[in-house]
Amino acid sequence: MRLLRTARENLLAIWPETTFSKEFFGHTLLRRSLFICNSPDTVRQVFVDDAANFERKSPQQRHALRPLIGDGLFISDGDVWRERRRAVAPLTHVSRLPELAPAMTQAATERRDLWVRCTGQEIDVLGHMAEMTADVICRTIFGSQLGHAAARTVVTAFSEYQALIGQMDLLSLLGLPDMIPRLHGRRIRASAERIQTVVSNLMTDILKGARKDEPSLIRSLSDPASGHALSAEAVRNEASVLFMAGHETTANTLAWAWFLLSQDPETEARLHAEVDQLAGQPATYADLPALRFTRAVIEETLRLFPPVPIQAREAREARTIAEREVPAGAIVMLVPWLLHRHKLLWDQPDSFIPDRFMPGGSGVPSRYAYVPFSIGPRICTGAAFGLTEAVLCLATLAQTVRLTLRPGWPVMPVCRLTLRPGERLPMRIEPRLPLAGKGLAA
Ligand code: HEM
Repeated sequence: MRLLRTARENLLAIWPETTFSKEFFGHTLLRRSLFICNSPDTVRQVFVDDAANFERKSPQQRHALRPLIGDGLFISDGDVWRERRRAVAPLTHVSRLPELAPAMTQAATERRDLWVRCTGQEIDVLGHMAEMTADVICRTIFGSQLGHAAARTVVTAFSEYQALIGQMDLLSLLGLPDMIPRLHGRRIRASAERIQTVVSNLMTDILKGARKDEPSLIRSLSDPASGHALSAEAVRNEASVLFMAGHETTANTLAWAWFLLSQDPETEARLHAEVDQLAGQPATYADLPALRFTRAVIEETLRLFPPVPIQAREAREARTIAEREVPAGAIVMLVPWLLHRHKLLWDQPDSFIPDRFMPGGSGVPSRYAYVPFSIGPRICTGAAFGLTEAVLCLATLAQTVRLTLRPGWPVMPVCRLTLRPGERLPMRIEPRLPLAGKGLAA
């Protein structure tokens, strides 16, 4: 019961030190068998080689997200998942990045200008990053600008939603069958409804309203000419998936990167030296090859603070993994939080060393040991999008300002659906360089 109570507060707090050097381990928690793949071989077996047997997301994840995304790709399986994946994955495919990146640059530039106006003030970096990345998703996927107020509504409601759903995890761990309808608390429903209202209004506009002439990637999902004529409800659910999966993850990555940089002046100076080569201009898609160290900072941030710190699957049939019997129905998890800091795989696993991702650096011990975007058929469809966005935004903002953490503020990783640096991250905006052609505003 103590473990369950701790897990409800913070799922990261339940792993004892010894689990950072294990290969595969498991527990029976009440009536559920839980196993953790914690080596390249076991990750490969479950998530790649035998992925069809482990395709289904865990009941916890399905219950947690269903009120928000219905039967959306993120939690569906079988034919529904295959159909939706075929439709959704091309929207953010790497080949589309040259056309999508200008919206990232634009959103970062607007945030930079806002920060310049707030120089000397303290802001909640987590909230600011979430609003910026929500804005990027809107401009790229929906094809319209989410008003500032709407972005704030979604960001606040999603944060509240994540804090509330812990109770549902508990019900699932207690072994209640999947089909028993869960009684979602009134507040959970209210925050899900707030998010859905914003997404729904946007979709109504996009599908038949005022913005009909504006190009929109999401609208193409309901267009028979695209080969994927999804129903209006399916398009709405996938819009919610892209909104949720696509903004909070990148926002957390950026917030953690700002925190890590504020604690490591040497790395911060190297980042500044690289981004200053852009001579005060916002970072664009064409600048990416020159931003190798900025990318390494993001990659190392994703190693230390993987935004999706637990990826769980349900076994369809029984299997033997690392010589242990895994029964049908067992939950098998990949926990990047453990694997990315595995003592037997990584050199100085708990240190922030972006150089390992630079050419000539130690690199990753195995492609199955560094999985911030997961691996196998259910790998994140927005990996290249998220990485590009994080690099362009960090390079654009870090040219002009630096952020310092509020003295004495305790930063603790908290695991909800995503891994966050607590509920907020208070940092002060300090000026660096004047903007090209503009003085720094007071
Ligand atoms: C740094 C940013 C991101 C990280 C770390 C990340 C990570 C992940 C991970 C780990 C999964 C698999 C979850 C699981 O197996 O339980 C996932 C799935 C997914 N992600 Fe991302 N993601 C990021 C950005 C994005 C963006 C920008 C988009 C879209 C615009 C996106 C769309 C999706 C979708 C649609 C899925 C579901 C794929 C499926 O189930 O087939 N993600 N992401």
